Amino acid sequence: MGFSLIIAEFYHNHPLSHQLRFLQMMTPQPTQTSQTVDAAKPDAPLLSPNPSTTPQPSDENSLSPHYRAIQTFMKRKTHVGKKAEAGLQSDFAHFFVQPNLDAIQAMDIGGITNLRELFSNPDAPLTFEIGFGMGTSLVEMAKNEPTRNFVGIEVHEAGLGNCAFLAGELGLNNLKLISGDAIALMQQLPAAHIDTLQLYFPDPWQKKRHYKRRFVSADRMKVVERVLKKGGIFHAATDWEHYAHWMIEVMDSLTAFENVEGKNSEGIGNFLPRPDFRPLTKFEKRGLEEGRAIYDIMYRKV
Ligand SMILES: C[S@@+](CC[C@H](N)C(=O)[O-])C[C@H]1O[C@@H](n2cnc3c(N)ncnc32)[C@H](O)[C@@H]1O
Repeated sequence: MGFSLIIAEFYHNHPLSHQLRFLQMMTPQPTQTSQTVDAAKPDAPLLSPNPSTTPQPSDENSLSPHYRAIQTFMKRKTHVGKKAEAGLQSDFAHFFVQPNLDAIQAMDIGGITNLRELFSNPDAPLTFEIGFGMGTSLVEMAKNEPTRNFVGIEVHEAGLGNCAFLAGELGLNNLKLISGDAIALMQQLPAAHIDTLQLYFPDPWQKKRHYKRRFVSADRMKVVERVLKKGGIFHAATDWEHYAHWMIEVMDSLTAFENVEGKNSEGIGNFLPRPDFRPLTKFEKRGLEEGRAIYDIMYRKV
């Protein structure tokens, strides 16, 4: 069976050509400014409110069909390498929540309503990573914290296969993978289900007309808020300055969250110094090589 439904990394294709250490030395540091995001309001509704479809307090985890149609990802064909192809074979099937390759390729998340029950120790702390890309950092985190359970979700088939392959090489038993849209999945999970939700280098959607696709938006963060436990952590990182300030503005606007690093003198949430526990990701490396600063943000559900 061919692996034809593949996602491309669609906005940078520059070859990696410099030494990371050199670039880190040359890279500007994140700036904590009082600027507000200029070009569009990050908490603006994605679509004109429609009373018949706008979520009501009683069903806040349900979004309008129009809203769900605006995806935070773009499916494109891309090459599936040898490791990724092997990772999609039966030897690695135990890493996937979906029962077979057809379901993986169809991004079928039907029936996935509980992530904790995927593990033999369901009460262990649970980290959910959205958009893990090729999976190298997720696998390293799972290896580094064997008493914590990790679930990663991606739509990129090569990334899913690669991640399963890497996890198999290490024999991890605290990592599961799902192929699908994280927003749709979270809407079918119980409330207060997840301890930590991480979103590393999400697609920046740089054009103004694409801002509505940015994962960090007031509407989507309501979905995140519901699935996080009280005291749970939302950790994001980006190498795009505009998106970094946008994230802070969105998160500061949500009363359900507090910035773990506190606020500056102007009442704006602070960035988090780059934490040692977050391994370098492919897109972070690319951002550094292209001279961009890295911004981490961390908010706690209150
Ligand atoms: C720019 S890549 C970053 C990958 C990786 N975290 C890294 O830093 O190298 C963003 C990834 O998020 C995935 N993604 C975007 N929206 C998603 C969603 N709603 N559900 C699952 N994955 C998503 C995309 O497929 C893409 O692989």
